[in-house]
Amino acid sequence: MFQSPLSAGIFKRAMDHKLVEIDIRNIRDYTHDKHRTVDDYPYGGGAGMVLKPEPIFKAVETIKSDIAHKQEDGDAPIILLTPQGRLFSQQIALELSKYSHLILICGHYEGVDERVREHLVTDEISIGDYVLSGGELAAMVVADAVVRLVPGVLGSEASLIDDSHTTGLLEYPQYTRPPLYQGWAVPEVLLSGNHAQVAKWRHEQAIMRTLERRPELLAKANLSHEEKQLIYRLKQS
Ligand code: 6GU
Repeated sequence: MFQSPLSAGIFKRAMDHKLVEIDIRNIRDYTHDKHRTVDDYPYGGGAGMVLKPEPIFKAVETIKSDIAHKQEDGDAPIILLTPQGRLFSQQIALELSKYSHLILICGHYEGVDERVREHLVTDEISIGDYVLSGGELAAMVVADAVVRLVPGVLGSEASLIDDSHTTGLLEYPQYTRPPLYQGWAVPEVLLSGNHAQVAKWRHEQAIMRTLERRPELLAKANLSHEEKQLIYRLKQS
């Protein structure tokens, strides 16, 4: 599940340049019985299986001591990926990108023994209000969003600044050649070479797009007086 996404794109680039390391552990390797059991029936009955505490505690303790042996700080957040977690966002990605290590635990089946949440995990994250069959894809989503914020991973750091959700606004529309495709023209201002006009147009487009598609984001964005006036005018028309 992890090898393919890790062998291309942003992950490959970051790992090739030794900017990040991603170490995948299988909790089955931290079991001691013949069947390498990681789950069991829920106390009290009900459908599905619950991930047992021992293999998860053992895995995380091993990882923590591996980090300590490298003489790096041991403050790694221990994050459980679960639909019950706090909703992932660019803000959280930025927060997580400051740590030297993150430990991500992928929940599975019907759930995880509550003692893992209570006594091991320091944070719980969900990637949205829908149910995935496991936390693996969610962990990759979180890892992608965090890794691209690590200095040096992206080609140009500038491309981070305009990102949708970094500014609090959705990104403006982008065009490339040809200038006319099937009769559809690229907006004139972008061909003008007038950088001030281009910047103004893009900013207005970002605000219009956010107002149309995600008005609730505008409430949270840090807007100037001019921006607020523009929104007021757009709402009138
Ligand atoms: Cl983190 N895990 C699962 N299983 N489903 C989810 C999720 C996580 N975030 C949204 N849905």
